[in-house]
Amino acid sequence: MGTQDAPAKAGTTRHFRVWRGDETGGDLTDYQVQVNEGEVVLDVIHRLQATEAPDLACRWNCKAGKCGSCSMEINGMPRLGCMTRMSTFDEAETVTITPLRTFPVIRDLVTDVSFNYEKARETPAFAPPTDLAPGEYRMQQLDVERSQEFRKCIECFLCQNTCHVVRDHEENKPAFSGPRYFIRAAELDMHPLDTKTDRKEYAQASQGLGYCNITKCCTEVCPEHIKITDNAIIPMKERVVDRRYDPLVWLGSKIFRRGQSEVEQTPHDPDQINAAHSHAGGSHGATAEAEAERGVHWGRQVPQPQAPAVDSRGRLPISEFTFDKPAAPSPFGDDVTFPIPAQDLNYAHPKQPEQKD
Ligand code: SF4
Ligand code: SF4
Ligand code: FES
Repeated sequence: MGTQDAPAKAGTTRHFRVWRGDETGGDLTDYQVQVNEGEVVLDVIHRLQATEAPDLACRWNCKAGKCGSCSMEINGMPRLGCMTRMSTFDEAETVTITPLRTFPVIRDLVTDVSFNYEKARETPAFAPPTDLAPGEYRMQQLDVERSQEFRKCIECFLCQNTCHVVRDHEENKPAFSGPRYFIRAAELDMHPLDTKTDRKEYAQASQGLGYCNITKCCTEVCPEHIKITDNAIIPMKERVVDRRYDPLVWLGSKIFRRGQSEVEQTPHDPDQINAAHSHAGGSHGATAEAEAERGVHWGRQVPQPQAPAVDSRGRLPISEFTFDKPAAPSPFGDDVTFPIPAQDLNYAHPKQPEQKD
């Protein structure tokens, strides 16, 4: 009371390029939009809808980074529109907004993310002990806290969109559930009351855990800062490796898992093992491997993900576990900083130009 509000800072007019189109194709449209202090990209989209582009389609709900609806690619980086401040960008910078590339476009910035719901349905649900009624479950606080990190997921699917295994490889989608469902598997695997003891094996055999070469790009884009790779994927991979290669663990698992559901039979033929594990955690065939080698097409040269070398028995050298960057370099490239300049963006979504080998 008594004090006068400071006069609002006049807005500036900024240049935006927004992808407009549908499943048949589309292109970037240029707009000059007023931007005011403190605004986020979603505010600008709302201003566009209120002024010159009333038919611009965009999904959103909470405008607070909690519903996971407003996922989009802003200057090439998968982000939430409501959590990306306009002050992130230089005043003279063009801001390019495109839909998530991994999922089919419905219209403008809205994509069909039902791939994720299918994968959610395929993931076996929490299986509490049958001899306990709801309300009788007891857990140590330590166990609650371990899985709490994964419960923060807002299902924005930015990690799913970023993962190079499916980003440019539609053919991998049937066999690969993606990082969001790896954290679900890890969460249940750590849950002391979950009676399904084959979560890791299921992740390896049915969710395509072996396709992941721990590039950490999913972790890089997660708005909830969930350490997807370090805290979910790598521990599961390590335990799968233990199960497969430690003879005592393998023998014990065969004895003690009798009578429980087994989702995967460990191959006994060494050739089969080598074929299935041509690199760390890898379980895909030669064609899929060649495809993976081609890496991500960002419209510019980026380092190709390389699987770490393994010895004749398919084992990783110990240095792989101590090196600060396990496995492959980030497909974003270690030398790339965000936002990516507009001229370097590959925005030909949803149809990608032919890749040159
Ligand atoms: S670490 Fe890389 S390959 Fe593995 S799930 Fe995440 S984005 Fe995909
Ligand atoms: S893990 Fe993170 S990036 Fe992936 S869906 Fe959940 S909140 Fe989004
Ligand atoms: S609108 Fe809900 S996360 Fe952006």
